[in-house]
Amino acid sequence: MKKGLFITFEGADGCGKTTQMKLLAEYLEKNSIPTVITREPGGKGLGEKVREILLNYEGPVSDRCESFLFLADRAQNIDIIVKPAVEAGKIVLCDRHIDSTVAYQGYGRGLDIERINMLNNIATNGKKPDLTFVFDIDVETSMKRVGSEKDRMESAGIEFHNRVRKGYLELAKQEPQRIKVLDATKSIEDIHKEVVGIYNSIKNNIKFTDY
Ligand code: TYD
Repeated sequence: MKKGLFITFEGADGCGKTTQMKLLAEYLEKNSIPTVITREPGGKGLGEKVREILLNYEGPVSDRCESFLFLADRAQNIDIIVKPAVEAGKIVLCDRHIDSTVAYQGYGRGLDIERINMLNNIATNGKKPDLTFVFDIDVETSMKRVGSEKDRMESAGIEFHNRVRKGYLELAKQEPQRIKVLDATKSIEDIHKEVVGIYNSIKNNIKFTDY
C-alpha cells in the first residue's frame, strides 16, 4: 500500500513552528498533495478536552500526571488522526509530538528520559515521525514573542525553558537523520524556504516504518 508521511514540528513556545507548519501545508496543497494538520496536545474531539486540562488547570498537577495526560492525548492523536491518514497516503503535519515530552517533561521537569522513551513507544506503537523540524530559538526571544499572557507551561520559568532548548538540541544530535534544526530567529520566508528545501530533498528517501 502506498504510504504517506508523518512530519512533526517542534521547538520552544513562540518559536514559530505553527506558522511554519501552516505554510508547508499551503505549499503541499498547492502542489495537490493531500495533507492533514494536527497538533498535540489537542488534535480534535477528546484531545481538545485533554488540552484544556493541560494548559489551563489551576490546581496542583504532578509531573507524572502531566506526562500521562500528554501521552494519553498522543495515543488518541496517533490512532484516530495520524495513522489512518498516513495509511491513506496523506502527508500528516503535527504541531508537537514525542520530542516535546522528552524535552519538556524529561529535560525540563527532570523525569527519567529512558522511561519517557518507553512510554512514548507505548503511546505511538513504536512509530517515530519520518521527519522532524526543530525551530531553535534563545529563551529570551521566545518569551518576548509569547508575551505576558502565559499558559501553565509557558509560565514555568527561564531555567526550565533553557533545559527544554538543550533537550531539543541533544535529541537532534542523537537523531540527525530524522531531526533537522532550523534557526527560528530568521525571517518567516527564509525559514519556509529551508523547510520546503529539506522536505523536497528527503521526501523520496524516507523509509516508512509500519505501525
Ligand atoms: P501550545 O499552546 O500548543 O504551545 P505552542 O503553541 O508553543 O505549541 O501548548 C503546548 C504546551 O504543552 C507547550 O508549552 C509545550 C507543552 N508540551 C509538553 O510539555 N509536553 C508534551 O508532550 C507536549 C505535546 C506539549
